[in-house]
Amino acid sequence: MDEMEGIVDAAKTSDEDRIENSLRPQSLDDFIGQDKLKKNLKIFIEAAKNRKEALDHCLFYAPPGLGKTTLSHIIAKEMGSNLRMTSGPVLERVGDLAAILTNLSEGDIFFIDEIHRMNHLVEESLYPVMEDFELDIIIGQGPSAKTIKLPVPRFTLVGATTRAGLLSSPLRDRFGIIEHLDFYDIKDLMHIVKRSASIMNIAIDDNASEEIARRSRGTPRIVNRLLKRIRDFAEVKGGKITLDIAEEALNALGVDNSGLDKMDRLILTVLVEKFGGGPVGVDTIAVAISEESDTITDVYEPYLIQSGFIARTSRGRIVTEAGYKHLGIETPKNFQKELI
Ligand SMILES: Nc1ncnc2c1ncn2[C@@H]1O[C@H](COP(=O)(O)OP(=O)(O)OP(=O)(O)O)[C@@H](O)[C@H]1O
Ligand SMILES: [Mg+2]
Repeated sequence: MDEMEGIVDAAKTSDEDRIENSLRPQSLDDFIGQDKLKKNLKIFIEAAKNRKEALDHCLFYAPPGLGKTTLSHIIAKEMGSNLRMTSGPVLERVGDLAAILTNLSEGDIFFIDEIHRMNHLVEESLYPVMEDFELDIIIGQGPSAKTIKLPVPRFTLVGATTRAGLLSSPLRDRFGIIEHLDFYDIKDLMHIVKRSASIMNIAIDDNASEEIARRSRGTPRIVNRLLKRIRDFAEVKGGKITLDIAEEALNALGVDNSGLDKMDRLILTVLVEKFGGGPVGVDTIAVAISEESDTITDVYEPYLIQSGFIARTSRGRIVTEAGYKHLGIETPKNFQKELI
């Protein structure tokens, strides 16, 4: 996928780490939006600190780019603890997990990204660790094999996943704090645009901030990415980001006025043109547009559903009336409203 096409793909690109780190909010007060979640976390963090205990294990689930990793950094900062980061697919063997756990200190934050992609054996060995802070290690093989219990310091596991439904229930049940992050509303996104612009040292008009917010698919990562690209346009044209410059840049980047990019529009168009508006299964859509079905489910579909352009039914995905309207296609006469 070239950069233009992927401009509003919320998944992180490889060179994005540096800029993300500079724009990452450092404290809960700095973290914009998600008020209910912030309020809860504040209470849990304060209570744990007062009791001088580790925070309960936390699970964050949300589509890409909404702030899961950021929250893990913030929790470590607010708790005054070290942060140790890894991801599900990296923990291939129980030994990999043991190596990290035995190096943790009391109260540390252990962040596992993509926790739904952990190997089964590793996942199962995590259960007693989360519950009793003991890691069962099997030594030897066959009848002479012995299990020894290795004590682990009391730490906080922070897990992140794009879909809670992919997590096994024994794992999910062992988290004390489970929070979902929602797509951000325009007001919060505008706030993020302004905050990032000021860190990046760019002047921006209010109506330009609003336009960028409207086209960022509710996602802070996309705000930051669009802002970075629009800055290039603004610099060539005199410096400040005005509404005109923002619109011109966004159009040039292929981001339409609902924040959809080429790929989103392709999904909608294929649904209409090849499948009569659905219902059609996600695997079939994936084949039709040569994309992984997981990418469709994790990256594209959540926002298309949130914006009301497609709906998920028991028989598959269908295009809604708003979806037809967005494409400028008349809703078919036999459109079955009752499916939604
Ligand atoms: N609430 C927020 N306020 C301000 N900026 C935010 C907020 N949430 C996220 N961001 C910005 O968006 C970027 C992406 O956030 P983050 O890396 O935490 O997403 P993520 O949920 O971990 O995504 P992924 O699923 O791809 O790992 C961060 O660099 C940060 O600057
Ligand atoms: Mg992340």
